[in-house]
Amino acid sequence: MSELARTTEPEPIDPAVEAALAASREERAEALLEFARIPSVSTEPEHAADMVAAAEWVAARLSGVGASGVEVIRDTPLHPLVYGRIHEAPGAPTVLVYCHFDVQPADPLELWETAPFEPFLRDGRFVGRGVADDKGQLVMHLAAIGALRAAGRSPAVNLTFVFEGEEEFGSESLSAWIPANRERLAADLAVISDTTYFEGNVPAITVGLRGIMYAQIDVELSPVDLHSGQYGGSVENPANALARIITALKGPDGRVRIPGFYDDVVPLSEGDRARIGELPFDEEAFREETGVTALVGEAGWTVLESKTARPTLDVNGIWGGFTGDGAKTIIPAHAHAKVSTRLVADQDPQRVFDALAAYVAQVAPPGVTVSTTYIHGGEASLTPIDHPATQAAARAIRAVEGVDPVYIREGGSIPITAAFDHVLGLPVVLLGFGQPNCNAHAPNEWLDEANFERGTRVIVRLWDELAGLRAAANE
Ligand code: BES
Ligand code: MN
Ligand code: MN
Repeated sequence: MSELARTTEPEPIDPAVEAALAASREERAEALLEFARIPSVSTEPEHAADMVAAAEWVAARLSGVGASGVEVIRDTPLHPLVYGRIHEAPGAPTVLVYCHFDVQPADPLELWETAPFEPFLRDGRFVGRGVADDKGQLVMHLAAIGALRAAGRSPAVNLTFVFEGEEEFGSESLSAWIPANRERLAADLAVISDTTYFEGNVPAITVGLRGIMYAQIDVELSPVDLHSGQYGGSVENPANALARIITALKGPDGRVRIPGFYDDVVPLSEGDRARIGELPFDEEAFREETGVTALVGEAGWTVLESKTARPTLDVNGIWGGFTGDGAKTIIPAHAHAKVSTRLVADQDPQRVFDALAAYVAQVAPPGVTVSTTYIHGGEASLTPIDHPATQAAARAIRAVEGVDPVYIREGGSIPITAAFDHVLGLPVVLLGFGQPNCNAHAPNEWLDEANFERGTRVIVRLWDELAGLRAAANE
């Protein structure tokens, strides 16, 4: 920034904090790299010790920035949680801050250009599993506090941190912990940093997330595979049966055919649709970047509506029978599919599961045994754009980024969001700083250092903006 600009424009953040951030740039980058070297894959049992190591890393860093009551909570059904507080602003609002320290499995390993858990920063970009989803964002929160401390300040709001290690796996431990720990989590609002800016790195606030219901369908025929010459034509084939069931679930028009599936869907208003329509979304650029030959959508809805604001159903994986090289003539003993639905307000995961299970039983052919099992679920969430907390986040973005944010809905899910909203009664601000094409859950996940730097500053500014909010309300 030139001297002239500096005197005519308001500072994005407190200059003393800016100086601390400038001085600690390498150290902060190194912190993310160190964190991302821990292979905290929540869904793989062999990484249980890494989950503990990641929790301990977070707890140590949280203590390092002067949090009190820092605790690694280990008596959970699965992985540990990390809790801590910085309550040094009497009378100011309290913010519950959430990120997750677990990551998705790294496979397929052969598609990584470098080892997934040997992250690096090169040409302004962090690459490695979890650098964007969500370790980078967790480190931004720690760094924001570290810089405030280095500038001799405390955060202007009271912060309660809760970090979990099961987000990528359904958030069971944290979901169970919340109702029993309402007092420790008491706050005025929640800030979740686990989302992205909009396509093209446009600063964004996420105001809607889809929910999820994840299930498995198992089709069983016999204890062992059968010779397809001796038995073919006389017994039902479980793989064929599964294919028929899956075909029945969703039509070529993109509509889910499970009876009752859409019953609880809150319709999009004309205003909602207009706002989505105004977003700078280039379908062709999106198609090309995704590498698909054509985009599809639900009949009557745009691509962006279909992928962020409408419910849908997908097969995540399907297996059974012989899949090796060559040919083997069998009727498979069994066949299986992992099926997930993305949900919108006010669909209830359990109700959707019940409807799915009933429909699968109804369309299953005779001669095989079909069962449907619930794996995990979470509700959708919506935060009003005009909520004062959302608007405080918008001012923080405007100050740091120099532009107004766009308000977006995201197709992904963060299961704990609904618990913050419904169980704790908190408005939730979804303020994340990755980019949508960051290869989250895929090989070569990346986060630009520029986003890491900017995000950290938005957080610094957000605490000041939120403090002002309560002050105004108290007058
Ligand atoms: N950070 C994502 C959620 C997300 C995805 C936000 C895309 C914004 C854009 C989160 O870590 C995630 O992947 N959630 C899972 C939840 C599931 C495993 C319960 C998801 O959406 O698949
Ligand atoms: Mn995430
Ligand atoms: Mn994720």
